Amino acid sequence: MTLHQAVLIPGDGIGPEVAESVIRILEAAEAPVSFTRFSAGLAALENGQDALPTETLEAIQHLGVALKGPCTTPVGRGFQSVNVQLRKQLRLYAAVRPVRNLAGVSSRFEDIDLVVIRENTEGLYSGVENQVTDDVVMSMKVATETACMRIAQWTFRFATKRKRDKITVFHKANIMKMTDGLFLQCARHVHEHDYPNIEYEEAIIDAGCMKLVQDPTQFDILLLENLYGDVVSDLCAGLVGGLGVVPGANFGDDQAVFEAVHGSAPDIAGQGIANPLALLMSAVMMLNYLNDTRGDDACKTVATRLKRAYNQTLLERQTTRDLGGSLNTQEFTEAVIQRIPAT
Ligand code: NAI
Repeated sequence: MTLHQAVLIPGDGIGPEVAESVIRILEAAEAPVSFTRFSAGLAALENGQDALPTETLEAIQHLGVALKGPCTTPVGRGFQSVNVQLRKQLRLYAAVRPVRNLAGVSSRFEDIDLVVIRENTEGLYSGVENQVTDDVVMSMKVATETACMRIAQWTFRFATKRKRDKITVFHKANIMKMTDGLFLQCARHVHEHDYPNIEYEEAIIDAGCMKLVQDPTQFDILLLENLYGDVVSDLCAGLVGGLGVVPGANFGDDQAVFEAVHGSAPDIAGQGIANPLALLMSAVMMLNYLNDTRGDDACKTVATRLKRAYNQTLLERQTTRDLGGSLNTQEFTEAVIQRIPAT
């Protein structure tokens, strides 16, 4: 059996709590992955390191795969987001967030099965902000043809591989004619030249959001630039039960970092009540990625068993408080472990 080496970044706030839960579940399922811990974010600063230590970046570059808990970013001051830096420095240009209803988790809609794909490296997250005059500040939105083409090609390839029928681009090219205009131009080009058989549509993001909350089942894949993708991911999480049930992955050409959509939830950190499911689902995505990229069926088998275990746990309504249940993190962890099918 191959034992895959991966980086684990527990992160801040609820990060270490949900990471510990997921590691326990992976160990119980005998997942063929061995993790080495590295820090980032506040945890790294507290160790006397940089917010994003070089050794953490190098470890991900070397091993190619990481499971990451959320990292806190100070609001309106302090260091640059570790998440943004990590995605940029490792060129993890495609963020993928599958959004699905789960049996046992109540939500306003049924049959939601969409994927949010977010360009992860530029847009308003370029981090270029200037003090122009005493009372004027400016933030620069950057779009490059390279990054817009790269994410468009990646998304159409993903749609083909996953047998998905339709891609909808949310944009604001009526106002941001150059930046969002380029994003659209690239998506249209890739559609027309390489993937004419995949249905393609565009929606101005304000109207798109209205359509999303009226009937999310009309969407299949949503492709968005960085900021829109960030916001719409959380909106979509709300459609299927909340941030506790939406996993995510950040893909580059050579590396992938798997993390939940949610943040470090400082309001509940340290209370032992965080829902580890979104990070567990991200770990399942990681196992499927190891199967896809390294051809290791054992990873796929464990991923399938873990999926069965958490689906059964939810079906029996054994859930944490955010999903209406009464279990704490540890009790939910045990509940999932008890439901892992035998090999
Ligand atoms: P958040 O996602 O941390 O929390 C929003 C709300 O959802 C809170 O009420 C929280 O208690 C709840 N929540 C989130 N995850 C939960 C879970 N697993 N179980 C139960 N409840 C959960 O968003 P917020 O408060 O805007 O951000 C907090 C910090 O996290 C900020 O510093 C932000 O920059 C950072 N952040 C980091 C991300 C990452 O590392 N990828 C992503 C999003 C935010």
